[in-house]
Amino acid sequence: MPVPMIIDTDPGVDDAFAIALALCSPEVDVRAVVATYGNVGRDRTFSNLRRILALAGRGDIPAAAGAQRPLVHPQGETAPDWHGADGLGLRADDFPAPGPADPRQGVELMADTLLGAAEPVTLVCLGPLTDAALLLASRPDLAPRLGRIVVMGGSMGAGNTRGAGEFNLYADPEAAHRVLTQPDVPVTLVPLDVTMACRVDGPWLDELAGAGPRTTVLVSSAALYRRTFLDRHGSDSVALHDTLAVLEATVPGTLRTTPFPLAVACSQGPERGVMVVDRRGGDDAPRVDVALDVDVPSATAEVGRRIRALG
Ligand code: RIB
Ligand code: CA
Repeated sequence: MPVPMIIDTDPGVDDAFAIALALCSPEVDVRAVVATYGNVGRDRTFSNLRRILALAGRGDIPAAAGAQRPLVHPQGETAPDWHGADGLGLRADDFPAPGPADPRQGVELMADTLLGAAEPVTLVCLGPLTDAALLLASRPDLAPRLGRIVVMGGSMGAGNTRGAGEFNLYADPEAAHRVLTQPDVPVTLVPLDVTMACRVDGPWLDELAGAGPRTTVLVSSAALYRRTFLDRHGSDSVALHDTLAVLEATVPGTLRTTPFPLAVACSQGPERGVMVVDRRGGDDAPRVDVALDVDVPSATAEVGRRIRALG
């Protein structure tokens, strides 16, 4: 029986690959998708999300607009250098026109989806955690209907923003702290440590592009992302961060995790958005299962194999 899934996302190039991965995975049933601000502004991420669904022929999946801004402070940075001003590598117009927009607000769609699910739902968060925090704060009665939350975010080491943090947690540290320290729903965190280890190279992208017209459009959206990785990291390979979170949500246990109590720095100094790990794990604070180890060749091959089914 496929596991019901809700995806909250800020497409975003790697988000696009991750959403395609979920739609091509028979183990999960994507019941709803919500667009949050993040890589680019919420209106663009919402339009991109519905373009991606249209590309996959899944305009039937309810798609709603989520948060437009963080809970407390203005967003520190967006990511047009990586994802283009349009959020899809300046290739948004190569995608089909956006499909239908659900009239509900994102958290409302999430709540209705949870109420309508007979089985526990997996919530996958691929952008800032604002919507997830709002859901947990406004509808704590629905927490038992969540089987798990899988988050792409954080880093045990260096971040990837102007600050010291990783982009998704840095975008809304208050929301991230809320989600990563709550005791009600199990959380698996997929940090940069593992996503950067799972970079895919040019041949991997080229092979995927050759699977059909849809994957050609998808891979073409990664051209700018690929150039920026080459410029910033000196190698012709890209980290499709969000795909690892979806792979773990789809095939639990793909990533090897270690439980840690976490916190997120919410001060306004240079440490803002940094994930603080209590490596002693001493007190009875809720643990987050942090993914720190993966069979890289197996995971990257599996992601490619599944997305090829898009055709
Ligand atoms: O730090 C990487 C994360 O930030 C990914 O989810 C990427 O899409 C951006 O949202
Ligand atoms: Ca993302």
